[in-house]
Amino acid sequence: MTEGMIIVTKLEDLFYTRTLLDGPVGLVPTMGYLHAGHISLVRQAKIECKSVIATIFVNPTQFGPHEDLASYPRNLENDLRLLEQAGVNIVWTPATEDMYPPDFQTWVEVENLTSLLEGSMRPGHFRGVTTIVSKLFNATRPDKSYFGQKDAQQAAVIRQMTRDLSYPIDIVICRTQREADGLAMSSRNAYLTTDQRKAADILYRALLAAQTAFDDGEKNAETLRQIVKDVLATEHQAQLQYVSCADYDTLKELDTLSGKALLSLAVFIGKTRLIDNFILG
Ligand code: PAF
Repeated sequence: MTEGMIIVTKLEDLFYTRTLLDGPVGLVPTMGYLHAGHISLVRQAKIECKSVIATIFVNPTQFGPHEDLASYPRNLENDLRLLEQAGVNIVWTPATEDMYPPDFQTWVEVENLTSLLEGSMRPGHFRGVTTIVSKLFNATRPDKSYFGQKDAQQAAVIRQMTRDLSYPIDIVICRTQREADGLAMSSRNAYLTTDQRKAADILYRALLAAQTAFDDGEKNAETLRQIVKDVLATEHQAQLQYVSCADYDTLKELDTLSGKALLSLAVFIGKTRLIDNFILG
């Protein structure tokens, strides 16, 4: 592979440049508007793989009709600069009409796991995610692919899809990157006003309070959910959508914690919907 980052849009150009890469190849799928969280995925991929492909595609099929597709933040120039600095070999920025031509009619859907949590709040969201990730896997043929723990259910759903469809791809889930006050990094943080941004650390503080109780011996899931609710109630700008304390693998709600559990929540700060989670145990 030659020095320097190659930017491709057309599928045939991706196919050709992909043949030039030394393996193992790591894939970092993104929707752009990159932050330190995305770059940490690239860094991990650089450590574990000889070559790294990043994709930038705001995938319309994972947005609901009343969600923020039109306003989703974009800054391609800055994204390309960050990816080049991080040492990415190929950036693929497909066009929507190439990914979803007018007669598109084939979908990839994981069943049970997607009916819970985010899936129950955002119907069709995971069908869009698994369909696009599967198309990205097929086109880039990576050995490993990197996703953030912040989107915990997405990570579980992609792991399930990879197993079910026998993709020979190692799914690597990387730690959530946080701002100094604990707010999980997300492209959607850009929507927050200064005042809302100050309030947004409440998600982290609520999770931390429950984690502390867990570390002190609290194993009752409902008590842990209530601790999260009580902390959130102290911030009037925060509107809780759900808090869940579920089995880490099945995402089914727990009564008592014994193995690994996922404590997760979705909260509106103004019109901005934020999610976060901690793994307990
Ligand atoms: O996590 C994201 O940014 C997106 O859901 C993904 C995995 C790039 C698919 O569009």
